[in-house]
Amino acid sequence: MLCLQAPTNAGWIEAASRNMIALLCDHAHCERKAAMNGMFLLMQYPQRDALVREMITLVEEETAHFKMIVGELHGRGISLRPDRGNFYAKQLAAHVRKQDPERLLDALLVDCLIEARSCERFTILAGCEAIPEDLRGIYQALMSSEEGHYLMYVELAKRYFSPDTVEARLEELSHIEADIVRSLTNQPTMHG
Ligand SMILES: [Fe+2]
Ligand SMILES: [Fe+2]
Repeated sequence: MLCLQAPTNAGWIEAASRNMIALLCDHAHCERKAAMNGMFLLMQYPQRDALVREMITLVEEETAHFKMIVGELHGRGISLRPDRGNFYAKQLAAHVRKQDPERLLDALLVDCLIEARSCERFTILAGCEAIPEDLRGIYQALMSSEEGHYLMYVELAKRYFSPDTVEARLEELSHIEADIVRSLTNQPTMHG
């Protein structure tokens, strides 16, 4: 699916569906960090007009997702818990090269892969019968939104780099991402 080279481990959905509150808390923080990351990227590349426009839209959408998931928690009488970090995203971010223009290319493609993985996991969650119907509807809706973000990041990369350069680096990073995913220990988190 998408540009992913490995499916999510089979044991993840059981861990996630058994601990929906932990999953919702972590998910809320993922949406918050996606919005913050969009703001950070436009701050780093203020003269890239298309990037700035896309990031403003992304920040709005991810903030709306954050608000929605916090609403789901509060509706269940549960407060947001502290963020426990994201091992997966940290491992992937370590492969972003330090100098531009490579840094920009890698940042866009790492974000693209995170969106693609989120999209894959929302698809799994939406199809899991152990998860309440209302939440499955939310995951279904988020699935298409994250797919749109994945495509947006690839298109942005192709605006600033040749299609061959983008495809080659995406291929490399997607294999790195697959190795990271295979090493995960099935935690009740969005990328666990
Ligand atoms: Fe989102
Ligand atoms: Fe997203």
